[in-house]
Amino acid sequence: MERYNYGMVGLGVMGRNLLYNIADNGFSIAGFDLDEEKVKELEEGATSTMKVKGIGSLEDFVAALESPRKIILMVPAGKPVDAVLENIIPLLSKGDIVIDAGNSYFEDTNRRVADLGSKNLHFMGMGVSGGEKGARTGPSIMPGGDLEAFNLLQPMLEAIAAKVDNEACTAYMGKGSAGNYVKMVHNGIEYAIMQLISEAYDLLKRGAKLNNDQLYEVFREWNNGEMNSFLIEITRDIFQQKDTFTDQYLIDQILDKAGAKGTGKWTSEQAMEIGVSIPTIDIAVTSRILSAYKEERVQASQLYPKAEIATPENTDQFIKEVGDALYLATLISYAQGLALLVKASEEYKFEIPLKDVVKIWRGGCIIRSVLLEKFYTAYTKDPNLSNILLDADIAAIVKEKIGSLRKTAAFAVSSGVSGLGLQTALGYFDAYTTEYLPINLIQAQRDYFGAHTYQRLDREGVFHTSWQSVNQ
Ligand code: 6PG
Repeated sequence: MERYNYGMVGLGVMGRNLLYNIADNGFSIAGFDLDEEKVKELEEGATSTMKVKGIGSLEDFVAALESPRKIILMVPAGKPVDAVLENIIPLLSKGDIVIDAGNSYFEDTNRRVADLGSKNLHFMGMGVSGGEKGARTGPSIMPGGDLEAFNLLQPMLEAIAAKVDNEACTAYMGKGSAGNYVKMVHNGIEYAIMQLISEAYDLLKRGAKLNNDQLYEVFREWNNGEMNSFLIEITRDIFQQKDTFTDQYLIDQILDKAGAKGTGKWTSEQAMEIGVSIPTIDIAVTSRILSAYKEERVQASQLYPKAEIATPENTDQFIKEVGDALYLATLISYAQGLALLVKASEEYKFEIPLKDVVKIWRGGCIIRSVLLEKFYTAYTKDPNLSNILLDADIAAIVKEKIGSLRKTAAFAVSSGVSGLGLQTALGYFDAYTTEYLPINLIQAQRDYFGAHTYQRLDREGVFHTSWQSVNQ
């Protein structure tokens, strides 16, 4: 009986595309799905050179795989993963490897690693980014967990991943559930950048009064320069998309309520949990929540009508400033996400190689951008950099752009255009770069009403004062 190198459970668009990508690279692969249609369609969609087989019975599917079995799960995170595991575990043998390629919560992965480990099986969490197209043509792949199991997968992962300068956008992300954790933070940064781009769009549209054709031109120019990135590129294209129902641009017909599947929220929760400040990611998550109050917003906009937004005096200069502000706020969002990875690596003993993280995010993933090259250089100089803002070359970029971020944020404030992402990026920067924060006052207040104690600048130890009420 012919045995296949790999198995894929879940033949939705992502699973099927990843499977074809693996097959394109010379590996044989069997696919399983509960939906018979999807199993049938699998071989129909394959090319003649691919060694691909759709199998509708889980027993036959598992039996068709070479040993040790290497089974990739591409099913929705949460209960569906546990359901697959429950059914598949009894069919597996010692040393088999199950790789979860969905956006699973890292704690779930920890639980599954322990569960399968107790049965002499390997379980790995592996982030995959790049959407449907990326899965088919080259995603960024973030595997973590058992190193032995990773070594067995590495040649295949390197073959199917996106390439930048001939280097594969995949690397070992660390122990345990590091792969899922890195992907979660990737998504948190994705939320922040998308929020910032939407604010830049709003400022250009309602401030500079640019129409969609002009917005297309601005984003085209941005994408051709230092802001080159996947998210800027697709935003450029969005401004040219015509609607099929009306003769208008599609962007103007889309309801302003954002969806969210949860990875952004997890990133914020995690940052709170382990004590890392990532306000631009937090604000991006909460902005999507706020967007859902459509009816209330309509009501409030009538109750609090805004003055007409004054057009900036020099449109070209304004566009340049908004671009620089977006660039810097994006940089600051990466800095926050990467700082979270640094702390998580210590906290959970992941041993995440930050240099490799930014290296494999340079291609294939949603947050790929040329800016990551600069981070890669920074981590090459100092792999233990606690915050990217502390690198001298990054500091030079920040100093060049900070004036534009201030002006753009100030424009948003004075004109009543919500610029939550831009403002928190700036606020974070200002707090992070301040030697003496006014937090001495918070400590005094805490000690005043709750005897919570404080530390002093001039001597070691912990102090409490019996604060005197002046009105006594
Ligand atoms: C990726 C994306 C992918 C997915 C997001 C969407 O890296 O390919 O991040 O994982 O599109 O989870 O997330 P929301 O639905 O929460 O925006």
